Amino acid sequence: MRIAVYPGTFDPVTNGHLDITRRAVKLFDKVILAVAQDNNKNPLFSLQERQELLKEATKDIENTEVRSFSGLTVHFARECGAKAIIRGMRALTDFEFEFQLALMNKKLDPTLETVFLMTKSDFSYISSSTIKWAARLDANISEFVPQNVENALMRKYNKLV
Ligand code: COA
Repeated sequence: MRIAVYPGTFDPVTNGHLDITRRAVKLFDKVILAVAQDNNKNPLFSLQERQELLKEATKDIENTEVRSFSGLTVHFARECGAKAIIRGMRALTDFEFEFQLALMNKKLDPTLETVFLMTKSDFSYISSSTIKWAARLDANISEFVPQNVENALMRKYNKLV
């Protein structure tokens, strides 16, 4: 069974992440979406909230599973029996960070490959941060995130009951 781990902070999951997930399941038998506990990112949503939002958003995507992890991604990937780490690549700005991360992960576990999928152009300019920022300032974010995430953001920012 070809298993891949798709790690991220997912604070919150966006349609960009979902697009990558849908494409990744065509390449692997199973994709484990791995919510990282802490990344020095000071997340808006708790680990449990991020995991629940991701679970709800991916419930219709077959052969996916949502889990959380702490520690190194490569250790978690090995524990899952994964052969690959999936990452989405947006524009040039992502390249340096992703390149460093992939090389570090390769050093930590040479048996694991990082597979990059190019983000669909519709989502290449969005990020979890810009979506949170826009939502806080009352922008309509419905085309960038699943409905449950939009509702959760509205609740966080007290825009809706
Ligand atoms: N379309 C649009 N935006 C996308 C996207 C896509 N397809 N894919 C990612 N993004 C955006 C996200 O919205 C997010 O935006 P933000 O920076 O404004 O929050 C950003 O790209 C990346 O976030 P995310 O996809 O959630 O992942 P991440 O970069 O925060 O995840 C880990 C980093 C979890 C992979 C990394 O920190 C890690 O591996 N941590 C565990 C410890 C470890 O092993 N470290 C490495 C070795 S020392």
